[in-house]
Amino acid sequence: MKLSLQVRYSLAVVCILAAIVGFMGIAHLYGFRSLISASTLATAKTVSDALYKEERKQSEDLAGFLARILVDPVSRSRAQAIDGLIIAALAQPGMVYVVVHDAQGRVIGGAGAGSKPVPKWAARAGAGLREKAGGLPLAQIAQALSTGKIVSQVDGLALLITAPIIGSRRPLGTVTLGTSLQATKTDVAKFGGYMDAVAAASFQFFSMIYVGIAVMIVVIGLGIGIIMVRDMARPFQALGHYMRRIGTGKYDEPPPFERSDELGDLARELGRMAQNLKKVAQISRLAILGELAVGVAHELNQPLNTIRLAADNVLLSRRSEGSDSDFAESKLRLISEQAANMGDLIQRMCVVGRAEGGRTKIDARESVRDAVSLLANRCEDEGIEMSIDLPDDVALVLGRRNELAQVLINLIVNARDAVLEAALARGGPSDAGGGHIWIRMETRPQEVIIEVADNGGGIGPDLVERIFDPFFTTKEATKGTGLGLSISLGIVHAMGGRLGTANKGGGAVFTVQLPRADGAA
Ligand SMILES: Nc1ncnc2c1ncn2[C@@H]1O[C@H](COP(=O)(O)OP(=O)(O)OP(=O)(O)O)[C@@H](O)[C@H]1O
Ligand SMILES: [Mg+2]
Repeated sequence: MKLSLQVRYSLAVVCILAAIVGFMGIAHLYGFRSLISASTLATAKTVSDALYKEERKQSEDLAGFLARILVDPVSRSRAQAIDGLIIAALAQPGMVYVVVHDAQGRVIGGAGAGSKPVPKWAARAGAGLREKAGGLPLAQIAQALSTGKIVSQVDGLALLITAPIIGSRRPLGTVTLGTSLQATKTDVAKFGGYMDAVAAASFQFFSMIYVGIAVMIVVIGLGIGIIMVRDMARPFQALGHYMRRIGTGKYDEPPPFERSDELGDLARELGRMAQNLKKVAQISRLAILGELAVGVAHELNQPLNTIRLAADNVLLSRRSEGSDSDFAESKLRLISEQAANMGDLIQRMCVVGRAEGGRTKIDARESVRDAVSLLANRCEDEGIEMSIDLPDDVALVLGRRNELAQVLINLIVNARDAVLEAALARGGPSDAGGGHIWIRMETRPQEVIIEVADNGGGIGPDLVERIFDPFFTTKEATKGTGLGLSISLGIVHAMGGRLGTANKGGGAVFTVQLPRADGAA
């Protein structure tokens, strides 16, 4: 698949952008997501810590307060007052049980929330603190009694707080509260869920921002890329256009741009090459004229011979007795006709060799006749048969008569060379016996078709692509410059026509298609 430079550069820009956006996407997925979840986790932990701390502080405050108001009932052993305070404390939200011990660790009051019984450890406490100090709550009670400070710990889903009841500097006992952490745990879980939702939402939000930014980068990058690519491709297109113009013979056109970089160097070198090509084209033109000179010499030789013979005959008849004036007259007429033919031939040669004038409507048949008249006898001498089939009607095309004649001379000389070469390859006689060149013209409503066909073996499939290239030749350096077809192509293109080739009937057929100029007459 052939891709233009512009398409290739554009694809490169798209790939680079896709790589950048893809890289950003991966970074976004791995980095951003973990950043968000880390920060939400940290927030959730901070909040849950704060919640637990607050819960503990409230419970400790309550226990401290209860311990203070229990001083009096405990010191006076007023069981009823103690129970009243316990029930009041149990009414607090989250309270599971409240137990009051005396200084020896005996239960002097206690109850559970709802129908819950007083915990077993509290009931067993009467056995004495020392023995039971290994149990968790009992150790806590002992610690509160010995230090005189509030002691608390988390036990599963419960928070156990023991506050010493201190009356006139002597510990009277303790009050232990068991509060449930279930509500706080539920709050923390709810908050965790909320933070997860926040994380998901912010991830979604930033994903959308990311997609927006990615689309913007792609659109802006693509825009800039396309402009850059167009700027990069433009000089190449200009150079391509310039070279096509050179190909059609516009050698004097200046290079398309002046730059100080490598492209500028290339354009200058192409300009120089165009000037060299111009010189070579002039040389080639001289070579055509050389070719013609040989043809003309052949063409003039025959009428000259006829003239000399006729003149000799008249001279002889005048010397002999009874000269016949009719005979002399017929010979003189022949001399006059032959001289006229020679004049015509010389005029045609002048037409072909003349410097170019402007482009006008010309009869394409005249150019064919010019070319044929200059080469026919020579081909005949070489044993090549020539068939010419021209229409009766005028075939007007826009161009220069001598240029079109040059095209046909190139094609006929190529056909002749091919036929001679084929004869040589067959190892036959030096002349091309059996060689044939057909020149046929046809007028169609829109165009004039001229075909030059031969039976010289045709063009090899590996050469067909290259034969129109300047300087491509399979002939010896002294015989061919390789410019004939490329110059012919340039002339035909300049006339708005086409020049093509095919192999047919044991040889090559070159077809010139020219737009008709009759309509514009
Ligand atoms: N009728 C043909 N049959 C076979 N090959 C041909 C024919 N016409 C052209 N070619 C091939 O195309 C090549 C290029 O032709 P072109 O007329 O451009 O250059 P040339 O004839 O080699 O040289 P120049 O025309 O400058 O004297 C020839 O060398 C020949 O190989
Ligand atoms: Mg040629």
